[in-house]
Amino acid sequence: MSTHISVPPQLLLERILTLEIVRVTERAAVSAARLRGHGNEKAADQAAVDAMRRELNKLPIEGTVVIGEGERDEAPMLFIGEKVGINAGPQVDIAVDPLEGTTLCAKNMPGAIATMAMADAGTLLHAPDVYMQKIAVGPGYAKGVVELDASPADNVRRLAKAKGVDASAITVLVLDRPRHSDIINGVRGTGAAVRLITDGDVAGVIHCADPDNTGVDMYIGTGGAPEGVLAAVALRCIGGQMQCRLILDTEEKRERARKMGVTDPRMIYGIEDLAKGDCLFAATGVTTGSLLSGVKFRKDVIETETVVMRSVTGTVRYIKAEHRQLDKFHLD
Ligand code: FBP
Repeated sequence: MSTHISVPPQLLLERILTLEIVRVTERAAVSAARLRGHGNEKAADQAAVDAMRRELNKLPIEGTVVIGEGERDEAPMLFIGEKVGINAGPQVDIAVDPLEGTTLCAKNMPGAIATMAMADAGTLLHAPDVYMQKIAVGPGYAKGVVELDASPADNVRRLAKAKGVDASAITVLVLDRPRHSDIINGVRGTGAAVRLITDGDVAGVIHCADPDNTGVDMYIGTGGAPEGVLAAVALRCIGGQMQCRLILDTEEKRERARKMGVTDPRMIYGIEDLAKGDCLFAATGVTTGSLLSGVKFRKDVIETETVVMRSVTGTVRYIKAEHRQLDKFHLD
């Protein structure tokens, strides 16, 4: 006997796909984790890409990759514009970073994740793979409490005032790069603390959403634009503010951006410009970091930890999974 239950597309996106995207990031994380510490960024990334693509193509969606591994001519899989899913179901935008922190994984250092986001079609920023300036804070502050074009010191003071604390009680997370020396000096000059990370600014931005537990109040710096869109989806779900600007410092980059619909190369994007519709975000730990545990390979079980969020309700779920059908994972 077969029973046909028709599910409204919106319900599918909002609820049912929440668990489906967990499977996608779990598989990518497990595949990458097999190559933790092997010193081979490319191989680990490829393993995650292959697994993520395979799982995405099982989903009941008509998906288009808008944030992917690169533009069509440079990335054979999960390129921007690639169609994914079984070509039935809701039309959705897909943003992926199958292995965020390739170096972290290759060196077996904390904080590598497999991550993706899904949103109503046409609602995620189509960003080229260029750098992006970013500033982010968590929920509970008046809009515009910090601004991309204010100085780092100014932003620390404004945030401290809004939080009702001295600047010395503020911690700012920054990617450890020479290009950030002015930011680091500016923050430290106020008495605030800088927490440096070597890679992984998707998780970096997410840290701002829960300062009581992470100890991080603000993220400032320049990282990848794709990572910026993924982080914005997560902040849309858990709350917080973000401002970003693409760095389009050559005609070639401006042209690439134009082709993706960017009309104003100097535009400051707020969080709703980066992700304006209903969206879902998931990330599974590859190596253990302050956000998620990494994949654990036990004798008969593979364990994963994933965080999955929905913007409609703001629900954040941490899913610890024990996978026993190991033969499935051996395919990866
Ligand atoms: P990959 O996983 O692609 O290596 O990206 C890691 C990362 O640290 C991102 O989180 C960040 O946005 C970007 O690299 C920063 O770029 P760069 O290493 O060129 O400064």
